Amino acid sequence: MSFVDEINKRRTFAIISHPDAGKTTLTEKLLLFGGAIQVAGAVKSNKIKKTATSDFMEIEKQRGISVATSVMAFNYRGLKINILDTPGHMDFQEDTFRTLTAADSVIVVIDVAKGVETQTEKLVKVCRMRKTPIIVFINKMDREGKEAFDLLDEIEQKLGLKTCPLSWPIGMGQRFKGVYNMYEEKLNLFTAHGKQTEEETIEFTDLSNPDLEKYVDEKPANELREEVEMVEEVYPEFVRQDYLDGKISPVFFGSAINNFGVKELLDCFVEIAPTPLPRITEERQVNPTEDKFSGFVFKIHANIDPRHRDRIAFLRICSGIFKRNTNYLHIRQNKKMKFSNPTSFMAEKKSVVDEAYPGDIVGLYDSGNFKIGDTVTEGEILHFKGIPSFSPEQFRYVNNADPLKSKQLAKGLEQLMDEGVAQLFIKDLNGRKIIGTVGALQFEVIQYRLKHEYGASCDYEPVNLAKACWIECDDAAKLKEFTTRRKRDMAVDKDGNMVFLAESKWVLKTVQESFPEIKFHFTSEF
Ligand code: G4P
Repeated sequence: MSFVDEINKRRTFAIISHPDAGKTTLTEKLLLFGGAIQVAGAVKSNKIKKTATSDFMEIEKQRGISVATSVMAFNYRGLKINILDTPGHMDFQEDTFRTLTAADSVIVVIDVAKGVETQTEKLVKVCRMRKTPIIVFINKMDREGKEAFDLLDEIEQKLGLKTCPLSWPIGMGQRFKGVYNMYEEKLNLFTAHGKQTEEETIEFTDLSNPDLEKYVDEKPANELREEVEMVEEVYPEFVRQDYLDGKISPVFFGSAINNFGVKELLDCFVEIAPTPLPRITEERQVNPTEDKFSGFVFKIHANIDPRHRDRIAFLRICSGIFKRNTNYLHIRQNKKMKFSNPTSFMAEKKSVVDEAYPGDIVGLYDSGNFKIGDTVTEGEILHFKGIPSFSPEQFRYVNNADPLKSKQLAKGLEQLMDEGVAQLFIKDLNGRKIIGTVGALQFEVIQYRLKHEYGASCDYEPVNLAKACWIECDDAAKLKEFTTRRKRDMAVDKDGNMVFLAESKWVLKTVQESFPEIKFHFTSEF
């Protein structure tokens, strides 16, 4: 198979949802279709259970499970599908943001009863910023929930997505009869036999055909006719290019647990989803078909074995062919490196790969060389963009609790920050270290991991901060004036960038008004 054929065979995407909407269940059903797993229950949820905050071993165990399921590849209809898993727990949403940089498209799962939930809003916002193609799957149709039209309105309003239903439900909950697949013009009937369900598919091109009543009672049949007519009037026609440009989002309805509507979703996905897309670097755009290899690290996962400090760096291949035991350039360190055991992930199995193509993800064993966002190439100096740090919301001073272990603490903190567990800021005024995170759980994870992996101890002290912003100004004199006047609020991040630490949203607002020439950014990349 030619290089270009290999690229065109690949579809790399992420499934995102608010916890409990059914992401794990859907992933599992997709893998079953691909024959990548044989039995239900093989995919472990990487959800960090709500109770886990007090049980650190449990957190680590669960994070460990998510290593194995970080990438799940399977073959389907001659294509190689790479699913990127995203952490369910809200405190790890930065991980999810970064994973999205490695995906070419996204499937959003929404619970029919709960509708659009907060985490989905945040994640979709990031996708929209990047114009990532999005398919929406409305799950749990076997339960009572919101009316389809209301739900689509909610998706448009809260997520800002222009929806384009490609299937339409016939009832819901107890009255759920199935869906009409408008994309394939087929009727998919849902028949529940106790807990077991079956799906019956019937070609059905014209809903006005009275034969519809053979399959569905008169009332739901008429409702379906009316609703589909309305859908055709109200919603835009499906044009693949509009989906690829992030302008419209196809919507499917189903029930993942019953494996209903999942095959339709997958069949449509493989037809319309993008092949590996070009990526932007600071220097130029990199196209997947270029013959020289390039890739970037979007996730680093510590191994949970405390005796080894090995980590796995997940590399997305952006161009060329990645080969085992070949010298590549680690750009940030300006160092030649080769990888003897690059790992690929097929469902729950890991294996060493000799070659990987654009769109693929390989896991590289790392002893501390990589940071999130690092670029690896055959020699060209490139820096992939789009892997920013997000402004944290919770802050604490971090102090060394064991004076004899200050080196270990410094090393541990540096490596954990490279992994993207949290962000470290150093205050200009007194050199004190402040850790900023998105969620409270990370503080406990850091403390636990410093102790168990680095033998270091830290404690925290409260600090009155609400927001960290990266600042910039074209006028050097004005910038100097600002940083001098606000010296006590200034800090640097791990890369030496200037950061303004605001005590409250009110302070931030007044400072923004007093210094209109200073730009305040809420992500590290601008
Ligand atoms: P997540 O990864 O998005 O967090 O969700 P997950 O798949 O773990 O699903 C959350 C819960 O919703 C699970 O129930 C799962 O069985 C259920 N679920 C998923 N899809 C459907 C569906 O189509 N219909 C219905 N009725 N339920 C669905 P649980 O009780 O939390 O866990 P479990 O004990 O079933 O594993």
